[in-house]
Amino acid sequence: MAGALNKVMGGEAGSVALLQVLADNSFDSVLITDASSEGRVIYANKAFKKLTGHDPAAFIGKTPRILQGPGTDAKVIARLSSALKAGGKFEGRAINYKKDGTPFIMYWRVLPIKTGRKITAWAAIQREGASI
Ligand SMILES: Cc1cc2nc3c(=O)[nH]c(=O)nc-3n(C[C@H](O)[C@H](O)[C@H](O)COP(=O)(O)O)c2cc1C
Repeated sequence: MAGALNKVMGGEAGSVALLQVLADNSFDSVLITDASSEGRVIYANKAFKKLTGHDPAAFIGKTPRILQGPGTDAKVIARLSSALKAGGKFEGRAINYKKDGTPFIMYWRVLPIKTGRKITAWAAIQREGASI
């Protein structure tokens, strides 16, 4: 994909601009963390605010763990944690909490972003799920 995109968009800067527009305006929430073990947020889009009530700019530097609470299924989080350690993908649903404390079902995917073999970030696509 990258080769064809770069060709049409006139180089990497153009491709990055295109991907930024897509992420900013996606109907699904998009959350990106750095690759550190803490997983600090480096990007959140407008749909993340609609889904969780958290302001994207204020969420930078925080951990997505903030979304968890007493009803969050520890087994799902353990599965996500293993995927992160193995450098693999995760898809699942669990109870998360909005900024005002309202519980909802988070349905999300987490994917490694790789430069060569090195993981440089993690990207999540998130939406409200129908049922656990
Ligand atoms: C990109 C990314 C997005 C994440 N999004 C969520 C989320 O929406 N809800 C959630 O409960 N956990 C989410 N997590 C998981 C937590 O940040 C953390 O990795 C998880 O709780 C496992 O770590 P722990 O066992 O130390 O808690 C996300 C993690 C990453 C890397």
